[in-house]
Amino acid sequence: MNEKKEFSAYLKSQIGEDLSLEQIELFIEKPKQLQQGDLAFPCFQLGKIFKTSPVEIAKRLSVGDGLPQLFYKIEATGAYVNVFIDKEVQGLKLLKTILKEKENYGSHSFGDGKTIVFDLSSPNIAKPFSMGHLRSTVIGSSLASISKKCGYETVKINYIGDWGTQFGKLIYAYLRWGVEEKVKENPIPELTKLYVRFHEEAEKDPAINDEGRKWFKKLEDGDPEATNLWIWFKEVSLKAFQKIYELLGIQFDSYNGEAFFNGKMDASVKELMEKGLLELSDGAQIVNVGEDMPPCLIKKTDGATLYATRDITAAIYRKNTYDFDQAFYVVGHEQSLHFEQVKRVLRKMDYTWADHMHHVPFGLILQNGKKMSTRKGRTVLLDTVLLDAIQLAENNIREKNPSLSEVEEVARQVGVGAVIFHDLKNEKGNDVEFSLEQMLKFEGDTGPYVQYTSARIQTLLNKGHYNGKLPDKLSIAEEGWELISVLNEFPSIVQQSFFRKEPSIISKYVLKLSHKFNHYYGSVKILNSDQTGERLALCASIQIVLKEGLQLLGIQTPKQM
Ligand code: ARG
Repeated sequence: MNEKKEFSAYLKSQIGEDLSLEQIELFIEKPKQLQQGDLAFPCFQLGKIFKTSPVEIAKRLSVGDGLPQLFYKIEATGAYVNVFIDKEVQGLKLLKTILKEKENYGSHSFGDGKTIVFDLSSPNIAKPFSMGHLRSTVIGSSLASISKKCGYETVKINYIGDWGTQFGKLIYAYLRWGVEEKVKENPIPELTKLYVRFHEEAEKDPAINDEGRKWFKKLEDGDPEATNLWIWFKEVSLKAFQKIYELLGIQFDSYNGEAFFNGKMDASVKELMEKGLLELSDGAQIVNVGEDMPPCLIKKTDGATLYATRDITAAIYRKNTYDFDQAFYVVGHEQSLHFEQVKRVLRKMDYTWADHMHHVPFGLILQNGKKMSTRKGRTVLLDTVLLDAIQLAENNIREKNPSLSEVEEVARQVGVGAVIFHDLKNEKGNDVEFSLEQMLKFEGDTGPYVQYTSARIQTLLNKGHYNGKLPDKLSIAEEGWELISVLNEFPSIVQQSFFRKEPSIISKYVLKLSHKFNHYYGSVKILNSDQTGERLALCASIQIVLKEGLQLLGIQTPKQM
């Protein structure tokens, strides 16, 4: 049911060329009083165009043929054309659809047969998993779920940062100052310390930088000592990252990171050369990508490859492997230039599909207005943050509902859900202020609030012994209409969030639905009334949509809270 669209189509058929469909739709309003119908079209503008009284026009428009079935009545009131929706019929139809389709309600098929590749999360080994990586993980993963709901196949690639000159530095630092036992005990913080120490020592003695470069060269040439250390660093890092992914409940289809493209870069560099795109600049090999931008660096003077070389190679590999329709790179704002350069190089190579690569940037996570940094003592270890959130959630739950069973599992769903929802509730380009207390509140615009609303519905359904039955009439259509029309928006909300690559459209929607439900719950007697059956069917439909909305954000819904 798309009442506005159907009403404008009807009006358009009556008006003809003088107003466009879009203009008509913009004019349509909701009357303040219910007895004036559900939608109204003011005729003042047409009055000006035709130089006639708008009242006359309203009369004429209200007696035309072909009124859509959705409306049972049309009438002119002054200069307005008012239509009345057949709420009972439409509401019943919608509830039937939701209760029958369940979690498939709101799905689309426009992505059928097409694949989207997601480049997301992508932390760097031997370094802490940062807040930026958390944002990339939850935004990317939600966009993948939304795309799936629109029919697309999705491939989630965790492009681990496991290659580059920094590993030469790290290997040198470990060999010089590292202690095996310490790294084993506490891998990421110890390796980070070694990396920081390298830079401190290099300030005093710049010759150390050459040592770093030497070790990276050794690594690139397959030296066994360097390689074994690198493998070890990678293993311990992935283990630590895995803990975070498990808590978040997130899986990937591929972990092919930067190092995976080692043997494959020669081919793309050769291709660049054959296509005449490589130029020499101060001994380095570059591709010029336009006046408005620095050139893209392909090989350093010493022959070492770069971040861009790997991304260019990876893009070609992904196109060949997955034949993607689109590729999304969910990476912070600060890499915009890099992705633009990569795309331009690919375009110069005549890969027209480069236009289907989209950098999906996002804002920072701040603490007290400042960027959360891995240096300068403001280190926040993400697994600790998640464990803290779970602990706080557990305290809240025990206080609210001391008799709840499976508290630990529920606390995990609520704590993690709170962190994810907090991240996804604002437009992704905005910065987010990190506050555990705020995000864990059961009231206000939080994940726990939405989860709690669903649990509240579950209690109602249990108490009322609701068995999934569809009502055969809907006498509550008038009182429940606001909720019904919000439920009706869900498919278009899913579509919008896909096209705008914006999970926050879903978060805002589940908040709105929760608010409306809680208002309804406070003003209508749901159990022990003559309308209990119908009202429970409405509640069950709301729960289905809340749960599916949260699922699209990557959040689980506990049965009880
Ligand atoms: N590892 C990089 C970083 O942490 C992000 C990688 C993003 N993806 C890509 N294809 N470049 O900054």
